[in-house]
Amino acid sequence: MPTKVILDVDTGTDDAVALMVAALSPDIELIGATTVNGNTAVHSCTENTLRVLDWIGLPQIPVHQGMTRPLARQQMTQLNPASRIHGDLLDLPPAATARIQPGHAVDWLIDTFLASDGDITLVPVGPLTNVATAIQKEPRILEKIPEIVIMGGAHDHGNSTASAEFNIWLDPEAARIVVNCGRPIRMVPLDATHRALVSLDDCRALRALGTPAAEAAARFVEKRIEGYDATQPMHRASAAPVHDALAVCAIIDSTVITTQFIPVDVETGGELSVGRTVCDFRFRSRKPPNVHFAMDADEPKFIRMLMETLGRTA
Ligand code: BDR
Ligand code: CA
Repeated sequence: MPTKVILDVDTGTDDAVALMVAALSPDIELIGATTVNGNTAVHSCTENTLRVLDWIGLPQIPVHQGMTRPLARQQMTQLNPASRIHGDLLDLPPAATARIQPGHAVDWLIDTFLASDGDITLVPVGPLTNVATAIQKEPRILEKIPEIVIMGGAHDHGNSTASAEFNIWLDPEAARIVVNCGRPIRMVPLDATHRALVSLDDCRALRALGTPAAEAAARFVEKRIEGYDATQPMHRASAAPVHDALAVCAIIDSTVITTQFIPVDVETGGELSVGRTVCDFRFRSRKPPNVHFAMDADEPKFIRMLMETLGRTA
């Protein structure tokens, strides 16, 4: 039985690859996508999400537009350092925006979880504003969410700041609500995504597959590699993380990441460390473990999974 998934995205080049993997994998039933302010303004994230689903021939997957600003730090929308990696609109044909579902993503999340059999995994790969707002508005959804798999966080080093990873940094108050919500949480932070890089050679292999998904993924990852090599070089050149796709792959095969079950909280007050995921590997905080936090990933397995899923057509 495929795992039912709702993907909460701020599409973005790596969100785009994550969407294609989720939509095309036979092990996932993608119920819908919700969009949130993040890599770019929410309306551009929505347009990008529609473009991706159109491109791979799955326009029937519903897309719901969500929060335009973080919960508390409304000025954070102006400070997005990620746009240098992603750009604003994806290099794909424009979408029919009439396809945006009516109503607000937060209400759709609430209605969908309340009406569900408790079998839909929630996968947020952008800032956690939609998810936190849904929890605050209708806490009864929590008992219907079996697991939340988050792309976000960082222990060893951040990307938005020295301390913080972008998705958590953009809306730390929301992230704090979600990681402490009491439901099973797996977190795929930079510590894992930087261990599973996609290279220019991998892009060539993707392109050779000849499917729309693989061709678009190759194009997006090449753009990411250019951006990373110029601004955030990885431990080897000509390769880049595709963060959000690793979180989706972890739904399909949990062994693609290695997790530790530890207490994790989010810094919302620190002047230098705001947005940091504070990981208590040595159990000093007396807080019970709440997050399965990934510190490693299996790069060859990740690449094989990308080839396998992106080589498919709808
Ligand atoms: C995360 O931030 C965004 O730029 C990416 O889409 C990813 O979700 C990585 O820090
Ligand atoms: Ca993202």
